[in-house]
Amino acid sequence: EEIEKGGYDHFMLKEIYEQPRAIKDTFRGRLRTEQGIIKMAGVDQNIEKFLNADRIIIVACGTSWHAGLVAEYIFEDLVRIPVEVEYASEFRYRNPVITEKDVVIAISQSGETADTLAAIKLAKEKGAFVFGVCNVVGSSIARETDAGAYTHAGPEIGVASTKAFTTQITVLTLLALKLAKHKGMFSEDKFHEFLTEMENMPAKVERALQSNALVEIIADVYKDSENCLYLGRGFNFPVALEGALKLKEISYIHAEGYPAAEMKHGPIALIDEHMPVVVIAINKGHYEKVVSNIQEIKSRKGKIIAVVTEGDEQVKELADHVIEVPETMESLSPLLTTIPLQLLSYHIAVMRGCNVDQPRNLAKSVTVE
Ligand code: G6P
Repeated sequence: EEIEKGGYDHFMLKEIYEQPRAIKDTFRGRLRTEQGIIKMAGVDQNIEKFLNADRIIIVACGTSWHAGLVAEYIFEDLVRIPVEVEYASEFRYRNPVITEKDVVIAISQSGETADTLAAIKLAKEKGAFVFGVCNVVGSSIARETDAGAYTHAGPEIGVASTKAFTTQITVLTLLALKLAKHKGMFSEDKFHEFLTEMENMPAKVERALQSNALVEIIADVYKDSENCLYLGRGFNFPVALEGALKLKEISYIHAEGYPAAEMKHGPIALIDEHMPVVVIAINKGHYEKVVSNIQEIKSRKGKIIAVVTEGDEQVKELADHVIEVPETMESLSPLLTTIPLQLLSYHIAVMRGCNVDQPRNLAKSVTVE
């Protein structure tokens, strides 16, 4: 096992550090920037299904569901197709409206999650085209779906999902870009800009990982907290949810993710000098609005840990800690902003003496409902 950990203390840390490589592997053979194309066999063979779809329904559980939420923002923004993201366990039992004009995308690292598998069977019965995004090759979900794309992240051993999440987002972004191109949603130049920036992502993730030493210092300050709030807006709202999930899964600290603006409808009541609030505040989208959310937290004495774009000045003035990630397009930013949050939960869990790779009560793959 020590050999498999490749010199890292835990599989989770190894897998966090594998992300630049994993994302590159996800691109392999697909992202062809020079030719100006994205090749995905499972999509190419069924392109009419995607182009004629009235909507996309994404079904998943856990972290994969969060990747689905990121994809919702990306698909609606770039492809202009309505997307619904459903917990597989709810979808399968609530008599959902599904038609032959729906495309259902099932996301699953293991490809064995019982609820997701059942949701796929239901969607197929109703005549929908079902596309799988799995990591484990030959898994049940990969076999049950009509077509799909593997994430190629390599084996993920840590129960808390890390590289599976970022590679799921990578595959779904490639899919969205491909469909947007087919639908004539953007010019050759814009498409090329996206492809080039995708190519840059592994190096940018590598740079985001350089925050590790700083994140460890921050973890030490907050390791004894009982609660933690994570806020983000737009593309980074699901990243806030995922950051909170990571923390609660492995450190057993109660954590909640919220859309930053929704804070005033509840969580703001919890904020005092004992509440750390992690805020994703990159310099794109609704930056100014996030800054005012940060001011609201500050005036209630909450402790602010902000994830900002390199070179940010404004948030630095307000936050207790800032963690920088490289600049990128807003729609691609979740691949970077999620990195320090993974590291934060990892270090806090280690400092609390938790079993990081095998947290209590959780399983890597949930094959019963
Ligand atoms: C379990 C795992 C999570 C995972 C979820 C969905 O809860 O502990 O890490 O996100 O199942 O699993 P899947 O394999 O379908 O992505």
